[in-house]
Amino acid sequence: MKKVYVGMCADLIHHGHLNVIGRARELGDVIIGLITDEAAASYKRLPYLPYDQRKSIIENIKGVSLVVPQTNLDYTDNLREHQPDFVVHGDDWKDGIQAAARQNVIDVLSEWGGELVEVAYTDGISSSQLNARIREIGTTPDVRLKRLRRLLNAKKLTRAIEAHNGLSGLIAEGTSYSGDDGVQEFDAIWSSSLTNSLSKGKPDIEAVDLTSQLVILNDILEVTTKPIIFDGDTGGEPEHFYFTVRTLERHGVSALIIEDKTGLKQNSLLGSEVPQTLDSIESFSNKIRVGKKAQITDDFMIIARLESLILGESMESALNRAQAYIEAGADAIMIHSKKTEPDEILEFCKRFKNLPVQRPLVAVPTTYNEIHENELAEAGVKIVIYANQLLRSAYPAMQETALSILKHGRAYECQDKLTPVKEVFKIIP
Ligand code: SPV
Ligand code: MG
Repeated sequence: MKKVYVGMCADLIHHGHLNVIGRARELGDVIIGLITDEAAASYKRLPYLPYDQRKSIIENIKGVSLVVPQTNLDYTDNLREHQPDFVVHGDDWKDGIQAAARQNVIDVLSEWGGELVEVAYTDGISSSQLNARIREIGTTPDVRLKRLRRLLNAKKLTRAIEAHNGLSGLIAEGTSYSGDDGVQEFDAIWSSSLTNSLSKGKPDIEAVDLTSQLVILNDILEVTTKPIIFDGDTGGEPEHFYFTVRTLERHGVSALIIEDKTGLKQNSLLGSEVPQTLDSIESFSNKIRVGKKAQITDDFMIIARLESLILGESMESALNRAQAYIEAGADAIMIHSKKTEPDEILEFCKRFKNLPVQRPLVAVPTTYNEIHENELAEAGVKIVIYANQLLRSAYPAMQETALSILKHGRAYECQDKLTPVKEVFKIIP
């Protein structure tokens, strides 16, 4: 029997996949190189189904004799290992991000006289269309909740953006950029106390309470499928925090970040311009422990946020706190800074690596926004949060429109800056 290799992700199986496998079967014994979560996330998106589930589906398709992981978009390693007589692939990879992988397949196969067989692309169906349909169907709290941990395992950097209502949730969910490195999207949604407060015209002092934040959250949940990282401010009293954890977990929130301050909370970017007090290590660690006991699933994450650098404490003290919070059970550490340069964040990241127990690091580059997210990832950051940019960009646009109407006594002059009414009904069909 000849050996035939087929690389695929097989997330949303459709007749196009079966067509490719069917052709491969005619040529010999079929080995499927199943793209791992990591490999898929590096150029497209995290598959809906985890690797093991996709594997058990594909193993049960007629004609498939072996499923092996393909850990890279590039086929070279697997091809050299299995030395197939044929590789079968759809003919839709001649341009774009997969073109280089295709050429490598041809070159590597030629080492032992193997051949690339391309099957005509099946019209009328594509994973991208199915992907859009799945988004329309929505998700469940359980699936959404688990997705953040899966992202952290699969991706070098998980990218979150703030949403403060359903509309900004749609932007966080649907915005996609196809560049040289593949498709770039936001992986997760940040529910921000600052933008939730700002959108209500109130200060960011925990005056917008959990109940009000849940109303906003529900609007976002209704129109999105991406995992939620929730800004829990100080977390309040430990006795109350217990219920906050339960409530958010029940809603399918993946992670709750609480900051180590006590008393009247003010926004971190105000720093010491306003009175703000750090909590004691003991008290905050206790809160983390209470939260960890309250959660029901293993997937829910409680992330401890360090305000030390914001309030002028030393690097040493920030690291001590990080260690203590990890010992108390924190699933990740958010390090915050309001400097315009990333130096202190980078120093923290470097020294954090020396702590005995490692946890993912979260950074919020609001003020130090010149640093590229790849540099943060290189420094060890696993989650980057764009915490307020959507609302901050909407505000000047709305102000300008309001001014223009006043100035001209009509809305004609500002119409070019507005979303056409027709487009509005595409957003909310
Ligand atoms: C938020 O977005 O509400 C945050 C981040 O907590 S910051 O505004 O920088 O404090
Ligand atoms: Mg906040």
